[in-house]
Amino acid sequence: MVKTDQPFKVSVPKDKCSQQGEEIFIVNYKGEERHIRAHDYHEIYAIPNLYEYLFYDNYKCCSPDVICSLLDKTVTKSGSDTSDLTVLDVGAGNGMVGEKLNEIGVNTVLGIDIIQEAAEAAERDRPGIYEDYYIEDLTQLPQSVCQEIENHNPNCMTIVAALGFDDIPPLAFANAFNMISSPGWIAFNIKDEFCSSKDCTGFSKLIDNMTKSSILDVKVKERYQHRLCQDGTPLNYFAIVGQKKEDLTEKMLSSFS
Ligand SMILES: C[S@@+](CC[C@H](N)C(=O)[O-])C[C@H]1O[C@@H](n2cnc3c(N)ncnc32)[C@H](O)[C@@H]1O
Repeated sequence: MVKTDQPFKVSVPKDKCSQQGEEIFIVNYKGEERHIRAHDYHEIYAIPNLYEYLFYDNYKCCSPDVICSLLDKTVTKSGSDTSDLTVLDVGAGNGMVGEKLNEIGVNTVLGIDIIQEAAEAAERDRPGIYEDYYIEDLTQLPQSVCQEIENHNPNCMTIVAALGFDDIPPLAFANAFNMISSPGWIAFNIKDEFCSSKDCTGFSKLIDNMTKSSILDVKVKERYQHRLCQDGTPLNYFAIVGQKKEDLTEKMLSSFS
């Protein structure tokens, strides 16, 4: 059992898991012991600071920092200013990316996440970070919500630690991408193997299509260690920042339906 100065205690099973997202934690909180899977976000967000403790303190996740710093540098290098950005933070969770976006001086941050507990945790732990936070599934976004988001004129999208692994599928990425104005900024990370020719998730094809058809002009693509897996294996991702030039076509969108 690992002692923490938190109101919870966490231990891991004897056989440490080597499958990203399938890692199990045994969490003692308020006298109750629960087995929580790494991607059971609704349970993790409900316990204050557990998400930060598990992934940032223990498994050394650095992605919000990496992606937001790269966005900052790339925007500045292009002669633009981060204070002109209205960012849609997709898969916003408990607000760790929103917090970094505020630190780099963006104008406005909007959040969207599929689960209620994410919005509640963001409000509880980082109040005031998001101007609006939408609890929606991006694969089935009601037209009224899409319109509401577009009324903010977002000109930047961030997606951090949220693509693939039963989280955000290519269709959700594509739907969010089309809510960003053109030209706009796109900053995200993605597991390195989802960018390879062997990828079966659809992301490699989507990103290739977007870059080849100049819908996305990739300015920076850097491989880095996103976090450690429970068994200590490094999990390597690409950090990608680019400029959106135009919307994905109906034909591209329909290929995911
Ligand atoms: C690992 S968390 C990342 C949270 C945050 N971006 C960060 O870096 O700390 C992935 C988030 O994506 C959200 N998510 C998964 N599928 C989604 C969907 N279809 N639409 C919107 N959010 C989704 C999950 O609820 C979860 O909060």
